[in-house]
Amino acid sequence: MLDLTILSLALATSVFGQQQSNIPNTWPNAWPAIPSGDFSPEWQNYFEVKDVLPNITQPLSRNFAGNIPVNRPGHANNTLFFWGFESRNGSLTAPANESNNDPWIIWLQGGPGSSGMIALMTENGPIHVKSNYSLIFNDFSWDHLADAFWIDQPVGTGYSTSDRTGYVANEDQTGEDFVGFLSNLVKVFPSLATRPLYLTGESYAGTYIHLFSTPNPPVKLRKIAIGDGSLGSLATVEELPALNVIETYPQLINYDPDVFNYFREQEHLCGFDLNLTYPQTSGHFPTLNLTRPTRQSAFSDSLDEPRFERQSFRQRVAQKYAAKQATQTNDLEHRNRKREEWKRDLTGRANGTIDPFYGCFLFDELVDYASNFSFPWTNGHFDVYDIPDGTNPEPPLDASVFFNDNRTRAALHAPTSKDWIRNFNYPFGSVRNRSIGNQYGDPSVEPIAFLSDLATNATANNVSIVFYSGNDDSLVQHRGTEVIIQNMTFGGIQGFTKKPSTPWFDDDGNFAGIVHQERNLTYVLFQGAGHLVPEWQPAAALAFIREFVLGSNKTGLVVDSTTVIGGENSTLANDVLPGGTLFYYGSATTAGTSTVPAATVASWESFIATATATPIGSQVQLSDSKVMTSSFLVMPIVGMLWGALVLA
Ligand SMILES: *[C@@H]1O[C@H](CO)[C@@H](O)[C@H](O)[C@H]1NC(C)=O
Ligand SMILES: *[C@@H]1O[C@H](CO)[C@@H](O)[C@H](O)[C@H]1NC(C)=O
Ligand SMILES: *[C@@H]1O[C@H](CO)[C@@H](O)[C@H](O)[C@H]1NC(C)=O
Ligand SMILES: *[C@@H]1O[C@H](CO)[C@@H](O)[C@H](O)[C@H]1NC(C)=O
Ligand SMILES: *[C@@H]1O[C@H](CO)[C@@H](O)[C@H](O)[C@H]1NC(C)=O
Ligand SMILES: *[C@@H]1O[C@H](CO)[C@@H](O)[C@H](O)[C@H]1NC(C)=O
Ligand SMILES: *[C@@H]1O[C@H](CO)[C@@H](O)[C@H](O)[C@H]1NC(C)=O
Ligand SMILES: *[C@@H]1O[C@H](CO)[C@@H](O)[C@H](O)[C@H]1NC(C)=O
Ligand SMILES: *[C@@H]1O[C@H](CO)[C@@H](O)[C@H](O)[C@H]1NC(C)=O
Ligand SMILES: *[C@@H]1O[C@H](CO)[C@@H](O)[C@H](O)[C@H]1NC(C)=O
Ligand SMILES: *[C@@H]1O[C@H](CO)[C@@H](O)[C@H](O)[C@H]1NC(C)=O
Ligand SMILES: *[C@@H]1O[C@H](CO)[C@@H](O)[C@H](O)[C@H]1NC(C)=O
Repeated sequence: MLDLTILSLALATSVFGQQQSNIPNTWPNAWPAIPSGDFSPEWQNYFEVKDVLPNITQPLSRNFAGNIPVNRPGHANNTLFFWGFESRNGSLTAPANESNNDPWIIWLQGGPGSSGMIALMTENGPIHVKSNYSLIFNDFSWDHLADAFWIDQPVGTGYSTSDRTGYVANEDQTGEDFVGFLSNLVKVFPSLATRPLYLTGESYAGTYIHLFSTPNPPVKLRKIAIGDGSLGSLATVEELPALNVIETYPQLINYDPDVFNYFREQEHLCGFDLNLTYPQTSGHFPTLNLTRPTRQSAFSDSLDEPRFERQSFRQRVAQKYAAKQATQTNDLEHRNRKREEWKRDLTGRANGTIDPFYGCFLFDELVDYASNFSFPWTNGHFDVYDIPDGTNPEPPLDASVFFNDNRTRAALHAPTSKDWIRNFNYPFGSVRNRSIGNQYGDPSVEPIAFLSDLATNATANNVSIVFYSGNDDSLVQHRGTEVIIQNMTFGGIQGFTKKPSTPWFDDDGNFAGIVHQERNLTYVLFQGAGHLVPEWQPAAALAFIREFVLGSNKTGLVVDSTTVIGGENSTLANDVLPGGTLFYYGSATTAGTSTVPAATVASWESFIATATATPIGSQVQLSDSKVMTSSFLVMPIVGMLWGALVLA
């Protein structure tokens, strides 16, 4: 995950080694009874987690953990940390060439620099940490379906180690390290060399997809599944989808048609209104230019900083507004005046040209707008990973106390040369060096540049690709993933030939989202899930892994030009899957909810149907009377929201 929330930043900076001037030097620890010599099944006994772990009150399935070197010449201390769980007693320790059909799963976190233990402890792993630091068991852990490993990578992330000069330079090195690690791992667990591997991951793990291009890998890759993945440029995956984010959650702009039209025009001016067609007949999309702000402001300055710096800027702005609001009365007149202020805020903004203060950083502009004007984000926090969440602070789901407890450290054979941290800021040695590569200091080309190639290789090697998205994620929103898919050639054709519109259901028969499959590429959209999909929809995520990743469920599969298994639903064939009407606010311990009245949603829907039916340019025609009508209808809702704020 691109995990740069205020919270994790605070946690990350509270431990040593986060200053650029002091890039840490770390190494694995040799715990008692460590075998000598090359890796072999003899190491299973060493890696097995046998000591009692603090706060764990029930037996876990048999599990193994520790650091394994990446085999980088001259960097013997460079290791990756793993924690692996058996699906059945003895399944991981099966001898070579046994259990050859048993799947196994690897999970990689994003970041870059986020620990895989985040998913283990809050998403798809067997133990979950609660906001009071206690631990509970997760009934929907992915190790129930297959042997599963959560891994900290690249070197230096989480409990992985690196000497000071050994941090990865780029994605090629990330891939080589990972393969070096795997070649050792399969010596410890020999059956893994031939069993089908399902490589899964989230967010920046989409960029780590580089590592699948290795010739002669030591494992038998079967599928790649990436959630909310960074598969394209910053412009494509983060800034382009801003309007789709608004249409999913119009609450972000208080259901204000003028604001919608404003963003729609900006989208057009920035060239972000790519026309996705099914089939995609227009050839590959151009590389998007991310026009920078031309006027200096605190906001434009903050765009030069890594995203977590921007986040703290937003926090400051939001706090300022929250403080202002707190001192004001809440009568209807005031609310209406307030609303006029919001409207006025658009005046003075660019009209017909790209906004000089924001350039084409439309997503950032949207977050700034919502933090300033739209409840509940005015509460002081906009969780870009989960739109409806305006709680401030968010409840901490902080695994650092558990991991850094000496009993845990010893039981997991973890390093003593460092503390576990959720997010490591320097996976590339220096993420702040914006003169190198992308905003994270990663100089590698973005995956879209080679995804078509990768898909060709994948098919030739019997590897399928799965992309999935959480509909409540605003940072790496699904529209970006759909652009990537329509811009990719796989199975000899560019993009999907039919628009994803087949519903899928969880094991209780509830609507879970949209699934679409063509030519060995599967796309799944989850309803009601943020960036960390299995955290929000654990049961649906487990069903998804079982059916569409480990399994070959054909729901959503295009059979021919007229047939899609599971059918096509025209309501789902819109570009937008409407978000919920429930929003969260308050502080970690007193979070409340607010809802939007159905009438507001209905009036917005009728506005949107008209507005988006006409090409940009003519929408200025959107008659004044229409805008007036909509404004009138919006007002009562705004009032209700303010009411909710007060009741909290
Ligand atoms: C797992 O199998 C081993 C023998 O391979 C046995 O000693 C152990 O008790 C079993 N554990 C469980 C939880 O069944
Ligand atoms: C590697 O780790 C050992 C401790 O195991 C340490 O003594 C040594 O200095 C480290 N090497 C480098 C290059 O940092
Ligand atoms: C695809 O395979 C070819 C031939 O093995 C290799 O040269 C190329 O790097 C691969 N590309 C990707 C993106 O996997
Ligand atoms: C998409 O189509 C609309 C309507 O024809 C057009 O105005 C717009 O410029 C197109 N977008 C791009 C990026 O070409
Ligand atoms: C589309 O793919 C091409 C490579 O085929 C790439 O150069 C371009 O940047 C991509 N555009 C987008 C918007 O992803
Ligand atoms: C991006 O900018 C380059 C250079 O100014 C230009 O050639 C290209 O057409 C632009 N691309 C888009 C999609 O606007
Ligand atoms: C932009 O200009 C048009 C035409 O002059 C006007 O109708 C519209 O209200 C303006 N929009 C904003 C946001 O000022
Ligand atoms: C164990 O859980 C308690 C809360 O029940 C918490 O206060 C404590 O910090 C936890 N300890 C560890 C090592 O996780
Ligand atoms: C944990 O172990 C280290 C030595 O590895 C020791 O310095 C430290 O005091 C221990 N912490 C606690 C809380 O026992
Ligand atoms: C899908 O993958 C299988 C196995 O690699 C392959 O036989 C088949 O041709 C692929 N289908 C398409 C349409 O590419
Ligand atoms: C395929 O997955 C869907 C999930 O939407 C499920 O309802 C269906 O039962 C599955 N089909 C089979 C054959 O298991
Ligand atoms: C299509 O999907 C919508 C939204 O989930 C649902 O309300 C409707 O019943 C579905 N229509 C059909 C024909 O299944």
